[in-house]
Amino acid sequence: MVNRDEKDVIIDAQDIYKRFYIGQPNELEILHGIDLKVYRGEFVAIVGASGSGKSTLMNIIGVLDKPTEGKYHLDGVDIMAAKDNELSHIRNKKIGFVFQTYNLISRTSALKNVELPMLYAGASRKQRNERAKELMAMVGMEERMHHTPDELSGGQKQRVAIARSMVNDPAILLCDEPTGALDTKTGRTVMDIFHKLNEEQGKTIVFITHSPELADECQRVLTLSDGVFVGEREGRGHAAT
Ligand SMILES: Nc1ncnc2c1ncn2[C@@H]1O[C@H](COP(=O)(O)OP(=O)(O)O)[C@@H](O)[C@H]1O
Ligand SMILES: [Mg+2]
Repeated sequence: MVNRDEKDVIIDAQDIYKRFYIGQPNELEILHGIDLKVYRGEFVAIVGASGSGKSTLMNIIGVLDKPTEGKYHLDGVDIMAAKDNELSHIRNKKIGFVFQTYNLISRTSALKNVELPMLYAGASRKQRNERAKELMAMVGMEERMHHTPDELSGGQKQRVAIARSMVNDPAILLCDEPTGALDTKTGRTVMDIFHKLNEEQGKTIVFITHSPELADECQRVLTLSDGVFVGEREGRGHAAT
């Protein structure tokens, strides 16, 4: 079980509001004062209807977007006060993203896709290649690493995307419906990789899902509805499944 002490908080968002078209007559408030604490090493699920604000919140947690109002500390760093260059550094080093639609570059081999975030981080060619190969083996894709994404199934593409998310050894993985486009069996394989990363490497995982079964395998389940959290419960966790 994960410690839930104040000192172990890695994601600390307080009273987060997100509005679009600010100051316009048709201003939209999507998040209405969200509080979220995630502890180091936790595997947390976020569930909620389509349009409830899950991806908007995920983008804020992942520092892809800033809240309109609120406080956000990521691993002790005050995100609201950080400059743009610091933000991109934090994003690149601390967070791995996995999306429903994989977001791989189509004309580039799976291996090169995995290497890419390391290129931005300034790693040498040799370092990139070794690390990417190691991760491809970890997700069981070493046989297919020279294929382009078009030549891979959905599950294979998602395994490549997971390898890519891990390449800079982030503390946190943010997963936005990563099994949403996969059949149950393939989704299972992908979920098992997340369990492994959480259990063996201590990755903190925030996992958005529509699947009640997968949410229940997480340690804590938060329910978002119309831009507010309306429920929080303990999941059964992986060991109990
Ligand atoms: N950039 C944007 N501009 C205006 N509205 C947006 C923007 N992004 C999301 N929304 C709206 O915010 C609401 C929540 O969207 P989203 O966070 O994608 O929900 P979910 O991921 O839970 O399906 C939706 O009504 C969506 O249309
Ligand atoms: Mg979404």
